[in-house]
Amino acid sequence: MEQSDVSPFLYKMFRRQLQNCKLRSDESLAVVTDLTSRRDYAVAAMAAASDMGSDTFQITIPNWGRGWYDESGNIDLGGMLALSRSVINSLKGVNLVLDLTLEGFIHTPGRVELVKSGTRVLRAGAQSPQVLSRLMPWSDEEAKMMKERVLKYASMLRNAKVMRVMSQAGTDFTAILSPNTTFASYGFSDEPGRWDVWGQNMVSNYPTDSHGKVVIDTGDYNVTPFAMYHTGRIELIIENNYVVDVRGDSFDAKLMREHLAIYNDKNVYAVSHVGWGLNKKAKWPNMATYDRSPDTKGVSGDEGRVFWGNFLFSTGPNHHIGRFTRNHYDIAMRECTIYLDDKLVVDRGRVLGDE
Ligand SMILES: [Fe+2]
Repeated sequence: MEQSDVSPFLYKMFRRQLQNCKLRSDESLAVVTDLTSRRDYAVAAMAAASDMGSDTFQITIPNWGRGWYDESGNIDLGGMLALSRSVINSLKGVNLVLDLTLEGFIHTPGRVELVKSGTRVLRAGAQSPQVLSRLMPWSDEEAKMMKERVLKYASMLRNAKVMRVMSQAGTDFTAILSPNTTFASYGFSDEPGRWDVWGQNMVSNYPTDSHGKVVIDTGDYNVTPFAMYHTGRIELIIENNYVVDVRGDSFDAKLMREHLAIYNDKNVYAVSHVGWGLNKKAKWPNMATYDRSPDTKGVSGDEGRVFWGNFLFSTGPNHHIGRFTRNHYDIAMRECTIYLDDKLVVDRGRVLGDE
């Protein structure tokens, strides 16, 4: 494929996103792909970087892990792609890394090491152009606005001690927030050592403790691992920051219960990050209009994770305390009410303070 074969739209989209990431002409861009990554994405990104005067190259790595069973029958799901020593060393000297792999090196030690070295990383994955283009900012002004909005809510989260979440469905969940794990995800990587996901606007925190009940109901969205709307009720009983029981007779409850049990690992039941979605361009119904194929499209850059006002509950890894697991659930829940300490911040799925 020649540079001249790149679709004008993809070129425009990647160029705009590299500008959002403040890629400079004296910097370098590494595009990391696996054996299934879209070639037109890699070419468009490199063509845009070249035209911006930047040094650019591509590294292709095997995508072993996703879809490959090991002897225990386990399967890695939810951002678990391990980077080899030689790949990490190659990327450490690069200014910006664009992760186009299907699985993503998200909840992995390699990512932690990479960003500590000052490399900035933008995770893009394999979502359709219609999704990626919808979620991202298309001008400097819009990028600034998105960033400031997310930082504002992140600051509220960072300064709070307790998050309480309730819903009509029966959720009553309390999390003791960690003072130093609040993450402001505004969808691009414009500062040294920053990791982010394309188009992702949300805030999150890895609580030090949590307890109560999280009730997943019809219409809530399972971002990973299943990329599907829930059609049945699941009750998660949480004690000491772990899901201790997955209750319910619905298909969804049985699926989650049996899927988690496959791993035979207590840590896949741990509470991971909790937070809420802040992308006004992401709409809850939209996932029904495109191909939700986690085995070919992945789950990164998915608007199901970031639609405005969802409560995002997750299980499994916490890289801040060195807890890496082979499975990660992200579940975006609708119509939840969220308090930070005694302050109401999300009222039945409506984010307050930015109407
Ligand atoms: Fe997650």
